[in-house]
Amino acid sequence: MFQPVIIAGGVGTRLWPLSREKYPKQFLTLTDSKHTLFQDTVLRLQGLPHSSPLVICNEEHRFITAEQLRQIDCSNAQILLEREGRNTAPAIALAAFKALEMQDAPVLLVLAADHVIANGEAFEQAVEKALVLAKNDHLVTFGIVPTHPHTGYGYIKSGQAQSSYGYRVDSFVEKPTLELAQQYLSTGQYYWNSGMFMFKASRYLEELKLYQQDIYTACKAAMSEQKPDLDFIRINQEAFHTCPSDSIDYAVMEHTKHAMVVPLDASWNDVGEFAALWDVSQRDEQGNVVKGDVKALDTQNTLILSEDKLVATLGVQDLVIINTKDALLVAHKDHTQKVKEIAHQLQTEN
Ligand code: GDD
Ligand code: MG
Repeated sequence: MFQPVIIAGGVGTRLWPLSREKYPKQFLTLTDSKHTLFQDTVLRLQGLPHSSPLVICNEEHRFITAEQLRQIDCSNAQILLEREGRNTAPAIALAAFKALEMQDAPVLLVLAADHVIANGEAFEQAVEKALVLAKNDHLVTFGIVPTHPHTGYGYIKSGQAQSSYGYRVDSFVEKPTLELAQQYLSTGQYYWNSGMFMFKASRYLEELKLYQQDIYTACKAAMSEQKPDLDFIRINQEAFHTCPSDSIDYAVMEHTKHAMVVPLDASWNDVGEFAALWDVSQRDEQGNVVKGDVKALDTQNTLILSEDKLVATLGVQDLVIINTKDALLVAHKDHTQKVKEIAHQLQTEN
C-alpha cells in the first residue's frame, strides 16, 4: 500500500498558447486519450494497491482540479492548495507532512501531473519494485533510457545493482549543459530522471531537513496551521510565503546518499514541448498531426492544432502551428523548447 502524491502546480509555458496560466497543460486533453494528462495520471494507478491520492495544486486551479477528479470518480482525493508555488521540493514536503498525519509510516509515490506513459503494465511493475526499495529507506527514482542529449531533464548515473529491484545511484545531475548531456549519453551509464519518485514520507523529510533546512522549517510551519475549506486543505500561506523555491532534484536528489534507480521502459514522455506532443500523437502518412479545422496540402512532419477558424498550409514542413481563440503560434519544430521565452516576455509586458 502506498500514498500517491500528485504535484500539479506547474504552468507549462513551453506549450503556450495551448497551456495558459489559468488553464495549464496538465488539465488539457493533449493526446489521443479521452482524459486530461492529470486524469490519466490518477487513472494509471488503478491496478496498484494505494490509498486515495493527495493532490497539490495552485489555489487558482482548485475547481478545475476538483471537477476533473469528480469526472473520473475520484472525489475522495485530498487537495492541498498553494497560493504561490515554491517548486517541487516544498510541494512534496507539504504532502509528506499531510501523509504523516493520516497514516503510520506512509510510503509516497510522487507523480508529475503531465506525463504520458503508454505501457501501463511496465509502469505498474516498476512501481512494485520501487515500493520494496522505498520500504527499505531508499529514495527511489525511475530511470528512462535517454535517446538524445536533452538539457531539460535530470541525469542519473547508475551504479551497483541492488538485488533485482534496482541500482544504486552514483550521481544525479539536474538539467546539465548540452556538453555534459552529450558526454553522459556517450557513456551509456546514465538514465534520464522521469520526475517520479518513491520514498517514505519520513525519509524524504529527514533528507530535506539535512540539505535544505529552510524549506523543511517553512513547510512544517505551513502545515501546522492548515484549515479545511470545503473539499480543500488551505495551508498557512504566510508561513509558506517565506519558503525558498527549489525543485526536489536540486534540493534533495543531487545530494542524498540513499538514492536508487528502477529502470522504466514504458514509453514515457513528459510532453514538455510541442515536439514531444508531436512524438506521442498519431501521425498521418505525411507525418502530420492535425486537430481541428485544418487543410494541409504538400505539408510534412507538421503539428497543426486549431481551436478557432480554418487553418490551411501549403508547401511547408517541420512546423508547429497552434491557433487558439486569442493567439497564433507559428514555430519551427527544432525551436519549440524556446516557446517559454515568448510566454515570459508576454507576462513581463502585461
Ligand atoms: N504543486 C506544485 N507546486 N507542483 C509543481 C510546482 C509547484 O510549485 N512546480 C512544478 N510542479 C509540478 C508540475 O505541474 C509537474 O507536474 C511536476 O511538478 C514537475 O515540474 P516541472 O516544472 O515540469 O519539472 P521539469 O520537467 O522541469 O523537471 C522535472 O521533470 C523531468 C522529467 O519530466 C525534474 O524532475 C527532472 O529531473 C526530470 O527529468
Ligand atoms: Mg516537466
